[in-house]
Amino acid sequence: MKVDVRSKFLEFFASKGHQVYASMPLVPDDPTLLFTNAGMVQFKDIFTGKVASPSIPRATSSQLCIRAGGKHNDLENVGYTARHHTLFEMLGNFSFGDYFKEQAIAYAWEFVTEVLGFSKEVLYVTVHESDDEAFELWSKHIDPSRIKRLGDKDNFWQMGDTGPCGPCSEIFVDQGEEYFRGEEDYFGGDGDRFLEIWNLVFMQYERSEDGTLTPLPKPSIDTGMGLERVVALLEGKRSNFDSSIFMPLIERVVELCGKPYVYESGASYRVIADHARSVAFLLAQGVHFDKEGRGYVLRRILRRAVRHGYLLGLKKPFLFEVVEKVCEMMGGVYPYLLEKKSFVSSQCKGEEQRFFETLEMGMNLFKKELQNTSAVFSGEVAFKLYDTYGFPLDLTADMLKDSGIEVDVAEFESCMQKQRELAKASWKGSGDEASGGELGKVASLPQESLSRAGVGSAESEIAMLFDKEGVEVSSLVGEGYVMLEKNPFYAQGGGAVGDSGWLYEGESKIAEINDTRNFFGKEVCKVIALSPLSTHQKVSARVDIARQLEIKKHHSATHLLHAVLREVLGEGVAQAGSLVEENRLRFDFSFPRALSSEEIERVEREVNALITQTLKAQIEEMGIEEAKRKGAMALFGEKYGERVRVVSFGDRSCELCGGLHIEDLGMIGSFFILKESGVSSGVRRIEAVCGKAGYEYALKALSTLQEAKEALKSQDLLASIHKLQEQIKELKEKNKKLSSNSNELKAEEINGVKVIISLVQGESKEMIDNLKNKYEKVVALLISENEGKITISAGVKNAPLKAGVWVKEIAQILGGNGGGRDDFATAGGKDSSKIAEALEKAKLYVSQNIIG
Ligand code: ALA
Repeated sequence: MKVDVRSKFLEFFASKGHQVYASMPLVPDDPTLLFTNAGMVQFKDIFTGKVASPSIPRATSSQLCIRAGGKHNDLENVGYTARHHTLFEMLGNFSFGDYFKEQAIAYAWEFVTEVLGFSKEVLYVTVHESDDEAFELWSKHIDPSRIKRLGDKDNFWQMGDTGPCGPCSEIFVDQGEEYFRGEEDYFGGDGDRFLEIWNLVFMQYERSEDGTLTPLPKPSIDTGMGLERVVALLEGKRSNFDSSIFMPLIERVVELCGKPYVYESGASYRVIADHARSVAFLLAQGVHFDKEGRGYVLRRILRRAVRHGYLLGLKKPFLFEVVEKVCEMMGGVYPYLLEKKSFVSSQCKGEEQRFFETLEMGMNLFKKELQNTSAVFSGEVAFKLYDTYGFPLDLTADMLKDSGIEVDVAEFESCMQKQRELAKASWKGSGDEASGGELGKVASLPQESLSRAGVGSAESEIAMLFDKEGVEVSSLVGEGYVMLEKNPFYAQGGGAVGDSGWLYEGESKIAEINDTRNFFGKEVCKVIALSPLSTHQKVSARVDIARQLEIKKHHSATHLLHAVLREVLGEGVAQAGSLVEENRLRFDFSFPRALSSEEIERVEREVNALITQTLKAQIEEMGIEEAKRKGAMALFGEKYGERVRVVSFGDRSCELCGGLHIEDLGMIGSFFILKESGVSSGVRRIEAVCGKAGYEYALKALSTLQEAKEALKSQDLLASIHKLQEQIKELKEKNKKLSSNSNELKAEEINGVKVIISLVQGESKEMIDNLKNKYEKVVALLISENEGKITISAGVKNAPLKAGVWVKEIAQILGGNGGGRDDFATAGGKDSSKIAEALEKAKLYVSQNIIG
């Protein structure tokens, strides 16, 4: 950036007594917002009075914002206009009940005219049509003919469907007549002549869900200026994309595709440059590609960029390279981009790779359909593109943009709905699921659910039966599904697996129940009928209560684990997934890094400490608001009814939960963490066991220890292991020395036979072995001396020489004796003054015997 507008802005407002705040995360702690979409989001609760105003009631920030996918959605315009972005930085100044309109207007005017140096001749402002006060205040700075009054559409701002809001006033820069496209472009349009640079919101109200406006405790100020457009204006560029913020990214795309960038036909380059920024920041901030929610918006952004790369002729992953460039360019201001660069790049590349696999086929289907389309693009084909080839709906719409054709969205939605119903009715996860079938019919019959009452058994009539394809039958043998009129089996839910058990007729067992699920609001069991079952038959249903008890223990232990994780790691930990079975539990949660072994130990210890407190489970039904007041943890994004069930253990754990729990924590016995690992970026997983499985785990660990003691013949395992480690270390060193010694030995060659005759230090026998391993044909004789004792070793491999005879002859020179086999022999000697002579003789012997 040639002009450092970001710093100038923050410095200006700091000099006016504002506290500088860092950009908050793109994912706000606010379920009503998809992404942080304005600078004021981090101050929302201060504006509404939920949180006390800070001691310095003035703030300023440069906030990263994303306007894609949610209420403020600019995605489809990006690339086709000069100013729209998915990600941008918003410069803002905020007053929390401190200064109001007059001061806000004066600051803005001073900054725009004096710091940025815009001439008064190019500036215009707008105010809300009812806001005479703002009109008057502006008139002190600017000629009234340059102040325009506009309605709610342009001059009333609010964060989302609910939240703080108020009338606003915008500052415009007139770029000159050559940019004028028509009257409609004047103010608030998308035209380029009158360009809005700064929005001053006079925060006065809070909008509630039913739309009513309540005055805020104190009128406040929230402003937002788009950094990218101001930089472009100051650099004299007609489009944000021509500025120094985007051009290096566009140039990178040019390098990658090898085709020059021409502004008029360059939308694809701009889309890629823009989207690479969102992908880089979202991945670096821990959002991951997903099938829904924020992760799906990220996926849509990436796929849109990839499809534009495809239009530029790029047929394999490329975006990750542009994303890397973003990390390098912006890493100075946002250092985490550099820290996470390789992670971000590899995530992006992997996702690109997956999309490229289906992109070509999808494009072919699209082209074929387009040829047959004159008015509206088939929603069914758009759905197929979505479902089979991974084309988000907005991507298909984007592909149709040039032709002016629209997708039949209603048809698309109805395909989507059909699929959802099908998916809902399918018995997932059992491997042999009924894919829908007629299971939906259970919705029409009444059922009395006893599953939460903890009765364990019930006398019931069979209400409905289905075969294993899900077709309704009146009698069943073998596999199928049963709905009982009075059902004691708990259905899979909240991460916990469903109950199993049996059906009896009198004292004879007539069926096995393997699993229970919720279908259209009814509890349905998977059954194997051992003898024929028929509708209206009276049966005695018995839950496998021993198994259910173990599931309950793991479920309660999951709540304890959740609570303790938040105590140990902080409130940022949020449940991301959970599996509860009779012999294990798996808990996924948001957390940015791996846990240290101390943290894992602490969590395990704390959970066990809670267990030994033998607290009783308290299960209550209450209104959602009351539950929230009680501090009950709810799952993000989960829908809860008005009445909720709250499960708590003392004051340590309190959660909204529909599941089954043990009555007393002491029943859990003990709890062991087996593993901590990463699931995806920002999500960790803990696997643990408790209850009977915990006991078995401990038993197995102890018996492994016992076996190890037996194998090592030692009672003190640690001491033995240390000893073994020492021995291995010594051996390794010795081995290293030996092989380096034998490597150093010089070998001559006679008739293709390697000849090594030398005085050495150390174990000559092992050196001989090494040499024999190393060479195909070899004769070697090594003499070593240790404390006056001479050792001669000789080895022969594939050569016409007898080691025993050779050694004997040489030993005599050294005043000793010895001998051995033809391939290996050793001897001793005494007279070290003869070593040189002995070596000479040994060589002579070889040359005579091998050549001869
Ligand atoms: N919050 C205001 C906006 O986003 C300043 O335009």
